[in-house]
Amino acid sequence: MAKRIALCCLFLVACSWCSWRSPAMALRRVLVTGGNKGIGRALCRQLAADHGFYVLLGSRDPGRGEEAVKSILEKSPECQDRLEFLPLDVASDASVKAAAETVREKFGTMYAIVNNAGVGFQNSMADTLNINTYGPKRVCDHFLPLLDPKEGRIVNTASASGPNYNAGAPAAEREMLTNPDVTWEELSATMEKVSKDPGGRQPYGFSKACLIAYTMMLAREKPELKINAMTPGYILTDITRGMGATKPPEEGTKAAIYCLTGDLKGNGWYYGSDALRSPIDRYRAPGDPPYEGP
Ligand SMILES: NC(=O)c1ccc[n+]([C@@H]2O[C@H](COP(=O)([O-])OP(=O)(O)OC[C@H]3O[C@@H](n4cnc5c(N)ncnc54)[C@H](OP(=O)(O)O)[C@@H]3O)[C@@H](O)[C@H]2O)c1
Repeated sequence: MAKRIALCCLFLVACSWCSWRSPAMALRRVLVTGGNKGIGRALCRQLAADHGFYVLLGSRDPGRGEEAVKSILEKSPECQDRLEFLPLDVASDASVKAAAETVREKFGTMYAIVNNAGVGFQNSMADTLNINTYGPKRVCDHFLPLLDPKEGRIVNTASASGPNYNAGAPAAEREMLTNPDVTWEELSATMEKVSKDPGGRQPYGFSKACLIAYTMMLAREKPELKINAMTPGYILTDITRGMGATKPPEEGTKAAIYCLTGDLKGNGWYYGSDALRSPIDRYRAPGDPPYEGP
């Protein structure tokens, strides 16, 4: 009898270990970078509270990260077992590598990454590119091996400033940034050159246009994953404070949630804040017909 009970216990422990590490569980585990405030924080809460995800809330500052988790749990205590802080500075290769290692050791695999962390309009070209474009690339480089190889998704938070930038860019640059066959060599060479001499370019729009191009490139290289870019819309956060935005962060999550949970028809696309596909060489207003081109 004692032997039978011991065998049963062993079986139950093995089952719970397997389900903890299994791809099925990994289907719902998602990292949100820059999750400590603004749209990222709203997204973390909604993903954990309303969509059943296990959320890793990335923050470069431990105090701000822990505080964000606490404030989400005060509002949504039901998220207690599916929300945790992950130290992650997207500007630091060492930090991103360490974060990926932590996730690998603790969970093994995960379902998705939302590259949300970003800076706005007050930074130099080099700093803006380092966070808004090289940042998501660093995260993808280190976290891609952890993603579920068949179901994994990546959502890159771009901005309408990206397509707007492309609309007014010099012809050769626009052609490169909107070319479905764009390569990392082309992109990084241009970013390096522009970092040193911005030549009148607006850093934020340029960084987001490059992020959209990177998204297209990565989706082409990893067709088995769902990799897309989107804009949250014009949302009142620290990035836009004093610029006339009025919508709360909670209203800036629709496109990201669609890219994470929707039945996506394409890959490497850019979605507007209404979660409809948008062109990448010009602005499409929310509510306008979706882009149907190549
Ligand atoms: N608000 C809008 O209207 C709008 C429109 C289009 C696109 N977006 C994009 O939406 C994303 C979120 O922006 P938001 O409006 O929510 O602005 P926000 O409130 O300023 O949030 C930005 C987040 O990014 C984090 N971050 C910045 N640099 C980081 C780094 N090196 N490593 C890790 N995290 C870093 C910030 O962390 P700290 O607290 O440590 O600074 C913060 O958590 C950005 O990518 C932004 O470009 C926003």
